[in-house]
Amino acid sequence: MKQRILTGITTSGTPHLGNYAGAIRPAIKNSNLSNIESFFFLADYHALVKCQDANRIHQSCLQLAATWLASGLNPEKVIFYRQSDVIEITELSWILTCVTNKGLMNRAHAYKSLIDQNILNGLDKDYGINMGLYNYPILMAADILLFKANRIPVGRDQLQHIEIARDIAIKFNNIYEVNYFVLPEAYISKDVEILPGLDGRKMSKSYNNTIPLFECNSKDLYKYIMSIVTDSSKPGEYKESKNSIIYLLYKAFSNHEDSSQFYKDLNQGMSWKEAKLSLFNLINREIEPMREKYIELISKPSFLKEILLNGAKKAKIIAQKNINQVKEIIGINDF
Ligand code: ADP
Ligand code: TRP
Repeated sequence: MKQRILTGITTSGTPHLGNYAGAIRPAIKNSNLSNIESFFFLADYHALVKCQDANRIHQSCLQLAATWLASGLNPEKVIFYRQSDVIEITELSWILTCVTNKGLMNRAHAYKSLIDQNILNGLDKDYGINMGLYNYPILMAADILLFKANRIPVGRDQLQHIEIARDIAIKFNNIYEVNYFVLPEAYISKDVEILPGLDGRKMSKSYNNTIPLFECNSKDLYKYIMSIVTDSSKPGEYKESKNSIIYLLYKAFSNHEDSSQFYKDLNQGMSWKEAKLSLFNLINREIEPMREKYIELISKPSFLKEILLNGAKKAKIIAQKNINQVKEIIGINDF
């Protein structure tokens, strides 16, 4: 039996080095293994939760589609689609909403931390929180359960969402006394660490601290890397590099041997400027050929659309079959 792997990225901004090293690169590498069937999608309905700028959503969709393809995704091998093109997902989301306890959503980290922040700021606890954000984990459960995916590669911050998807699957199976939904497992690769952004926090579209992956030419990439904050140790001085942004980024783009050497060089006094230059060369070497492909792809929206619609067609064959079975189970079926 093939393992079914599924993952999505929200279309709320420009893809960055963290998305690439943390999600896209390992997912594509795994998709080439023969015992694996991969489903990768653009989570555009999820993006609405935090982004109501129509232009940004639209651009981000195109950018992400071109990014996956330029990074080596083979649409013949991977089922690659836009979430909103597979309406069965939102259909299932409602069905799952009706078996999900409200308390389960109350305990979701993303919701809880916003409430805590509101209380801290003396605001009404639900200030600025839309129902999309509250129900976010249910839509995510629908993404996963509809395709009976086994393994979900995600960053550590998404672990709770996968656990919620499992809870919802168990609840549905229990209520209807079936063994229908497969229980998904989160897959958090040990080799992939969270990449820090320019300010040292997690690199994230939400923090404005990212280094764009392809939406920046090599000159800009150089500028971004030179602008990374370091401590004030001088050339020739020992550098506390273990947690430095420069070292962590270097590690994400090199093998163990090279990153250990880089680490030693920093300890032995390599200047930050020299270190940044090595980092720039390292990243640019990997990115440059893909960037050229990206530039070509992003200028062909109708080609990208065709690839995504083809992927959605394949996804819908499975989605329609499964949603019909679910509807049969819950009693919304043919007379
Ligand atoms: P963002 O935080 O920029 O909005 P997303 O939440 O859309 O990113 O994440 C998409 C994928 O990229 C997820 O699998 C996530 O774990 C991964 N990812 C995002 N930021 C990083 C990072 N800084 N380091 C490693 N992986 C990351
Ligand atoms: N919530 C995920 C993130 O922010 C994106 C996502 C949406 C996802 N649906 C998914 C990831 C289903 C894995 C499986 O990173």
